[in-house]
Amino acid sequence: MVGMLLTEIDHVAIAVRDLEAAIDYYNRAFGATVEHREIVEQDGVEEALLKVAESYVQLLTPTRDDSPVAKAIEKRGEGLHHIGYRVDDCAAALASMIAAGATPIDKAPRPGSRGTTVAFIHPKGSFGTLIELVQE
Ligand code: CO
Repeated sequence: MVGMLLTEIDHVAIAVRDLEAAIDYYNRAFGATVEHREIVEQDGVEEALLKVAESYVQLLTPTRDDSPVAKAIEKRGEGLHHIGYRVDDCAAALASMIAAGATPIDKAPRPGSRGTTVAFIHPKGSFGTLIELVQE
């Protein structure tokens, strides 16, 4: 067993078809406002981050038809897409997950949104949850 590597829930990512509608809904329902917005070309997504204490709700929409988020919405509809776990050292956490039997999507940490370093883990082998390791 390793020492605890998770420092925070970084974000809960929700895949939506209409980003403006989702932002408006979260604003009307919770008074939540967008703290950060970004298009991540590599992943084919646009995201809006709504801050909740030290974490975020991440509303995520595809920017092109072949993006993984577009495929996820096509297959399963809108909804919970992945969970981002915040760690101090993405490479160390990725190695620890692989040692524990996880199937990595990213073999090495790579740049994420808002200047973070991230790595994705396949839901298969992780009890059905797409996991993103996030180092700020
Ligand atoms: Co994410």
